[in-house]
Amino acid sequence: MKNAIGNKMSMTGLEPLPRHLAVVMDGNGRWASARMMPRPAGHRAGVESVRTLVEQAGRLGIEVLTLFAFSSENWRRPREEVSVLLDLFLRTLDREAQRLHENRVRIRIIGDRTRFEPKLRRQLARVENLTASNSGLTLVIAASYGGRWDIAQAARHIAEAVLEGRLLPEQIDSELVSSHLSLSDLPPPDLLIRTGGERRISNFLIWQLAYAELYFTDVLWPDFRADDLRQALEWYAGRERRFGRTSEQLSKVNRA
Ligand code: IPE
Ligand code: IPE
Ligand code: MG
Repeated sequence: MKNAIGNKMSMTGLEPLPRHLAVVMDGNGRWASARMMPRPAGHRAGVESVRTLVEQAGRLGIEVLTLFAFSSENWRRPREEVSVLLDLFLRTLDREAQRLHENRVRIRIIGDRTRFEPKLRRQLARVENLTASNSGLTLVIAASYGGRWDIAQAARHIAEAVLEGRLLPEQIDSELVSSHLSLSDLPPPDLLIRTGGERRISNFLIWQLAYAELYFTDVLWPDFRADDLRQALEWYAGRERRFGRTSEQLSKVNRA
């Protein structure tokens, strides 16, 4: 069943559900500091929240879940922390890939992987290939990802097409730019959740989030559980998404 703006309806009491949920998983460091623990302990604890969220998203029937795991700016952190984060990423993928595959999860990675070591690059390709034809939840992991990087790489591809005579400058419109961005084959995020109390995008999917509903919570990522997700989804279900139109126009469409 679909409602007037094409959102999938489900029978969970949380409808309409977002088709695509994007999450900025923030607050691991503060979670650890509050416990007098080193920052990596917070990152490790955050993995459990990822596990819960992926499971819940699949169970609810959300189509796409995009997780911000490591930003292009996170390369600026101390070397030891970067290495802990990338190591945790690699090991978590190693450990979880098979189970996710069995649960029909399709894994995609977005971001600038030229900055990764060959070992991690190979593992990313392996996991994507293994799960490519799965028909369940699409799990997108944004790693070494930045929205500005994404737009710049799209611009580069478009410029090449113009240079080679495959495209005229006047053919460049927002649809064409979208088609060169990460996630071009997926619906754009309907809901963005950011944990950890900050109210900013931090260079996440800046183009794709143009019409997303933005939900901020003070809960730190390692504490984020099913009930916190439910609260965010309930909030989302109460939004009126107008996409530039008026409320009256929407109720006319809903009545039709
Ligand atoms: C989010 O937690 C994880 C990444 C950015 C990789 P942080 O490490 O940013 O935690 P805080 O914001 O310092 O608490
Ligand atoms: C955003 O968190 C990136 C990820 C969660 C991966 P940050 O902690 O890096 O964001 P800022 O630096 O506070 O904006
Ligand atoms: Mg942070």
